[in-house]
Amino acid sequence: MNTEPNPRPEPVIRPIQESEWDRWIEVDEEAFGADFGPARRDRFKAVTEFERSLGAFDGDRLVGTAGGLSFTMTLPGGPRPVCGVTAVCVLPSHRRQGILSRLMRRQLTDLHEGGEPVALLYAAEAAIYGRFGYGRAADSLFFHIPRRGSEFAPHAPNDPGLRLRVVRPAEARADLEKVFEAVMPSRPGLYARGPAMWDAVLADDEEARRGRNSLRCVVAEDDAGPRGYALFRIKPSFTEHDVPDGEVQVDDLFGVDPAAYALLWRHVLDRDLCSRVFARNRPVDDPIIHLLAEPRALNAGWLDELWARVVDVGRAMPYRAYSAPVDVVIDVADPVCPWNAGRWRLSADTTGATCERTGDPADVELPVDVLGAAYLGGRALGAFLSAGVVREVRPGAVRALSAAMQWETRPWGGLIF
Ligand SMILES: CC(C)(COP(=O)(O)OP(=O)(O)OC[C@H]1O[C@@H](n2cnc3c(N)ncnc32)[C@H](O)[C@@H]1OP(=O)(O)O)[C@@H](O)C(=O)NCCC(=O)NCCS
Repeated sequence: MNTEPNPRPEPVIRPIQESEWDRWIEVDEEAFGADFGPARRDRFKAVTEFERSLGAFDGDRLVGTAGGLSFTMTLPGGPRPVCGVTAVCVLPSHRRQGILSRLMRRQLTDLHEGGEPVALLYAAEAAIYGRFGYGRAADSLFFHIPRRGSEFAPHAPNDPGLRLRVVRPAEARADLEKVFEAVMPSRPGLYARGPAMWDAVLADDEEARRGRNSLRCVVAEDDAGPRGYALFRIKPSFTEHDVPDGEVQVDDLFGVDPAAYALLWRHVLDRDLCSRVFARNRPVDDPIIHLLAEPRALNAGWLDELWARVVDVGRAMPYRAYSAPVDVVIDVADPVCPWNAGRWRLSADTTGATCERTGDPADVELPVDVLGAAYLGGRALGAFLSAGVVREVRPGAVRALSAAMQWETRPWGGLIF
């Protein structure tokens, strides 16, 4: 008689039905240890695409989730459709049983069979996604800037035709959208914000405030219209000696030109009764670095930002533009998506690119996550060579590939999804 216990059946992975959404989001609440209020749930549901929202089912229990969002994101060369991966969670009772791995494989297979060639995500922890072929494609800086010592350098632009308008954020929504749409194509990683995303940016309920005061907005404009905006919150405080000690926390700040950008930063740095600014997620080439007379006043810290997955090497590599001509054979290692593995000839110049299967010998050997890390243009490949992650077969090939893939403006998504 067989006394072995029955092996646990493998969970079924399939897209959820709309009627299963509440259970789907409850897995996220449990896994993140979060309580999503009704407003946040509504915003989340409004962006959910049910046919690409996967659930892992243990019997009839939903135990894991992974969502896909149809985004238009600026890549090197211009905005393109990509897949934004979100709501990746496994119930604490089912963790470390391979459920995330199954969800990731299914999602990548679906994309391969009929979706966008590139997927992007924000990682809750940086150790999770490398094993699934995602590479750290963008970084962000956070700044703690004391008001005292935050003077601008003499070269900081100043346009007397510009003025500031203090306005309730919701009333300025059309201006904010106009500014963002003008800025979006200028930086890889920025992605179009649909109505529900703007609702999230402008959300001002208790959950969005997280102990801070209400969302504030200032628009920089001239007679022709808006040229920039800052969204921020103030955490008021006074020292025991009654010295004002508030903190301005910047949520979103964009300018369509240098003078508008400088004016907005000056505004948040100079708010009365505040002694400092905390800006949580800024690009690594933020112009504020060059505006301050003393850049050490930034007190900057560094974090990973967007992670990118080249789903299909053959489709993804010609999908973006290149900064310099290159002709290299790359030998890609990709155990998760075997359709990518092997040799490809990437031929590109500043007018276009092809990437095709080849039997020619490899110039560079690299794992697919390095292609993801370099995909948005923010990585020099020499560092991967020095770290032993990439192998150069033909001398000079890594440098050529690196020069072609890097982009002048550093990538940055700017808004967690
Ligand atoms: C992170 C999470 C989705 C992992 O799900 P899971 O089903 O336990 O993952 P798997 O069992 O498929 O793990 C696959 C591999 O990833 C590793 N791994 C999983 N989560 C990890 C983490 N947070 N840090 C480091 N390694 C991790 C596992 O150890 C395993 O490694 P192995 O293949 O060498 O054995 C789950 O723990 C979770 O929901 N956490 C809370 C919410 C969260 O952080 N979600 C991610 C949002 S971006």
